[in-house]
Order: sequence, then C-alpha cells, then structure tokens
Amino acid sequence: MKVEVFKTKEEANAAAAKVFIDAVNANPNIILGLATGGTPEGLYAVLADANKAGKVSFKTVRSWNLDEYVGLPKEHPETYRNFMNRKLFDNIDIDKANTHVLNGLATDKEGECAAYEASLKAAGGVDIQLLGIGSDGHIAFNEPGSPFDSRTREVFLEQQTIDDNARFFDGDKSKVPTSALSMGIATILDAKKIVLLAYGANKAQAVRDAVKGTPDVKCPASALQSHPDVTFYCDEAAASLLG
Ligand code: PGA
Repeated sequence: MKVEVFKTKEEANAAAAKVFIDAVNANPNIILGLATGGTPEGLYAVLADANKAGKVSFKTVRSWNLDEYVGLPKEHPETYRNFMNRKLFDNIDIDKANTHVLNGLATDKEGECAAYEASLKAAGGVDIQLLGIGSDGHIAFNEPGSPFDSRTREVFLEQQTIDDNARFFDGDKSKVPTSALSMGIATILDAKKIVLLAYGANKAQAVRDAVKGTPDVKCPASALQSHPDVTFYCDEAAASLLG
C-alpha cells in the first residue's frame, strides 16, 4: 500500500489523473472502475480537460461503476448514473453503451447484482479502480461490518453515511436512500490496480485506520492492505493522522 500526500487536492487530482491518462493511452481498451461522491469530481474535470485537449481518448474504454442508490427515480439528479453522465461521461468521448452502472430500480436485485458481477468478469475485470473512502471507512457502500469476501449485493447505509450524503439531497437526511446496490469488497479487490482519493480532515481517521490499523471489518478500507497495487492520494488534511 502506497500513500502519496499532496499540499492540495488539486495537486493530488493532477497526479491521480495522470495515472488514468497514461493507462488509457497505453491500453485504449482498458476497463475502468469508477466512483461517485464529492471526492472524484475534480479528477473527472481533469480527465475531461485532457480529453478536450486531445491528450487522451476514451472512445474504446469501458467502465463499471461501484454502486447505485436503490429506489431513486430514473430522472433524479442524484442517481449515480446521472451523476456520472453529468460529471464525466457527457464531457468526454466515451461511448455511453460501454459505461455500466447498477440499476437501482431493478425488481430482481439479486439477479441485477449477479448479472453485473458476471458482465464484469466476462469483460476481463477492472484494470484500474478509482475509490473514495467514507468517513466511516467504507469503500463503495461497503459499510463497517461488510465481509472482506463480499460480492455485489444490496447494502444498507449507516446513519453516518446518510448524514454525510444529505448535502446532495438539499441537506435533508430523510431524502437520502437507505439502501444501495454495491460491489463487494472482494469485487473491488479483484481490480488489478487501485487508486484511492481522500481529501479533507473528516477522512483522516478513516485513512489512518485503513493504512495503519490491523485489517478488520470495522474499517472496510483496511481490506485494501492485502492488495498488491494500491495507492492512496491524500491531501495534507486527510493524511494528518498518519504520523
Ligand atoms: P465523498 O464520499 O467523496 O462524497 O466524501 C466518498 C465515499 O463515500 O466513498
């Protein structure tokens, strides 16, 4: 596990974006694992700028996203499908048919999750996975207690996550969905390479537990310690408890 610390998140975004840009240029058919939330927005803006400047093309890239809220109407701006379209896919030359996001309105949730795992496996698996980290140590929506061998399934959000995400729902906690479909920890660990972004003081304890703690389901991100190629890109505030 490597940790890179930058003065600002803008510098961290630039460094992490370079990893993605170089990888896509080396393999235009690459499979990217993508993430939502406030954290990756800056990185996505850098990728869109690079695409517009002709420095990288996503024409033949395929992507699988980590998770999706259960039950939000298709047109709701905070579905992770709509987030991805708005923050990245509409701003780059990717073919949307090659972008995969779980369907949070599926009536057969188990079938949806199994089909998602199968489609990713058939495609060859994720080459580079982008991750954020929850203030409670979650990765994707794998909350504390999630088994390290978990696969894509329906998961229920911790109150801390609902509180954190209320800012995307007019600050109204009651509007935040209580469950989501999420890749499991084992699904994430299947990625060949993992890039985790962590910004801000409210992530410092989770980053510390993930990097320095004994791996334990209490901090789902600590499962990453067993992966051979993980780099955390942190700003100084998120890295402040690493010592
Ligand atoms: P955030 O969420 O980027 O909105 O802080 C990160 C996460 O929950 O993975």
